[in-house]
Amino acid sequence: MNPRRRRWLLSGAAATGLTLGAGSAWWWRRRSSALAPLPAPLAARGLNPLRLPDSDPLLAVIDAGRHFTISARAAEYELLPGRPTRMLLYEVEHGERTLFNPILRVRRGAVIQAKFWNRLDQTSIVHWHGLRVDANNDGNPHYAVGPGEIYDYLIPVHNRAGTCWYHPHPHGLTASQVYRGLASFLIVEDEHDDALARALDLTLGTTDLPLLIQDRRIDAAEQFVHAPNGADRFLGYLGAEVMVNYTRRPVLDATPRIYRLRLLNGSSARIFRLAFSAGETRLPFHLIGADAGLLERPLPAQEAFLAPGERLDVLLDLRPLRPGAIVRLQSLAFDPMTLNAAELCITPSNPDPKHAAHATGVSNPSAANASAPITVPPNGARLDILPIRIVPGPIYQRSIPVSIATLPGIESRGARERVIELDHAQGRWRINGVEFDMLATPIRVGRGSVEIWEVRNPPNGMPHPMHFHGFPFKLLQRRSSPEQIRRIAVDARGLAAAETGWKDTFTIWPGEQVRFAVEFSHSYPGEQVYLFHCHNLEHEDAGMMINVRVVPPRSDAHA
Ligand code: C2O
Ligand code: CU
Ligand code: CU
Repeated sequence: MNPRRRRWLLSGAAATGLTLGAGSAWWWRRRSSALAPLPAPLAARGLNPLRLPDSDPLLAVIDAGRHFTISARAAEYELLPGRPTRMLLYEVEHGERTLFNPILRVRRGAVIQAKFWNRLDQTSIVHWHGLRVDANNDGNPHYAVGPGEIYDYLIPVHNRAGTCWYHPHPHGLTASQVYRGLASFLIVEDEHDDALARALDLTLGTTDLPLLIQDRRIDAAEQFVHAPNGADRFLGYLGAEVMVNYTRRPVLDATPRIYRLRLLNGSSARIFRLAFSAGETRLPFHLIGADAGLLERPLPAQEAFLAPGERLDVLLDLRPLRPGAIVRLQSLAFDPMTLNAAELCITPSNPDPKHAAHATGVSNPSAANASAPITVPPNGARLDILPIRIVPGPIYQRSIPVSIATLPGIESRGARERVIELDHAQGRWRINGVEFDMLATPIRVGRGSVEIWEVRNPPNGMPHPMHFHGFPFKLLQRRSSPEQIRRIAVDARGLAAAETGWKDTFTIWPGEQVRFAVEFSHSYPGEQVYLFHCHNLEHEDAGMMINVRVVPPRSDAHA
């Protein structure tokens, strides 16, 4: 082991470095199980039934409160029958079945014992986004393992009920590995969740639906195109169309009842401004959960932003709709507030200014490696995500509960304040003036302490979805927000409805300052190192990321 790396090792190192067979990618084809055929009119419009948990080996649900092996591998998967797509997938053997990107379901208090086997031809590591784990189990890129290697995870689940997810986190490779298919849900359940499911008669997979939303460029041969040019690497790689649960042009059949939708933005860089509409009318919904778990009570909303890494837990009441009606989950137009092509071109060190055209929605020449060029809508463009077709169903007479969960508070009066400055220089994004250094921990915090962080984003940049590993936080205030954010604020603090809950990722818009309170408490001994980073995956890969070292009180400093 490299001695520099040893310096960083914390208690109970988990990488065994065991080699199991050749780690190089080997292509292997998986036939998707039969998806229900669509009625002729929908099929004629090129729509495909939304992939739901258990309708297919991809995104099947498994109980994760036990021991299992999860490998990452290259595979050809028939996302559409007869049209294999080359992907990277997580694979789990489960009884007689081989499952891919399984939705991991776990009770609060259970223990996940996962053996990660890297069968890719490059390094990787699994990060459990949102789980409150110790540094060894967090999937920090420092612990990435090489081809053929194993990494053992042992994770007691301390989270409140909510929707987490898992994805790779090797430094510099995260964007492409996620884009090629490595991402899925990790759902934590507890007694509040049980009560909600009982009250509304919700079942995971049929009426409680995890929806992984990702934009992608897909060529005529049904292959994912990941070919970021210089401008893409600076601004983030945008897709041309939106897949939901790895379904291209999806459609969902739903009955007139209440559904729970767990919305996850697994895109590299695209931000969604989500709304449901039926014809010209907006269909209101209720927010019941944010990144880090259920809210205290359902909050009515008409729209919500969802940036890469964020989750929104939503109740959608379809009872006002008649069979035959279509409700559309859409992303409404918004101002992306992103450096435009002209500004990029005058940046002398921009690696490839000629290609900045994609920021204005012009088709990207570098993506045209299949027959036809792919036209990429800019961030903020109006997009259709998922049409929901209402079909007849049984009478449903439940109503949305008044309260859902008890929300822990946080006492931040007198807390230490810390300023975090985001900026860019010479075509590089930075946090507090530096780029990521795997071995440096520029921020040190005391275990058990509460801090208030004020993140500042200068006006001449772009929005950044900032994410904290290990510790959920409470947003305290948004300052100098753009109009499109002020307009949806629910209180004098400038926060949107879902931001009143516990979060692990939030977007900071150009010119804004966002303040949040975070308590660095956990039961893990010794020093622990976590990440604070931008979840625009190109920014993350380029080093818009910083280590935060949690230092124990002096009494157990030598633990
Ligand atoms: Cu989902 Cu460090 O990320
Ligand atoms: Cu994370
Ligand atoms: Cu960013």
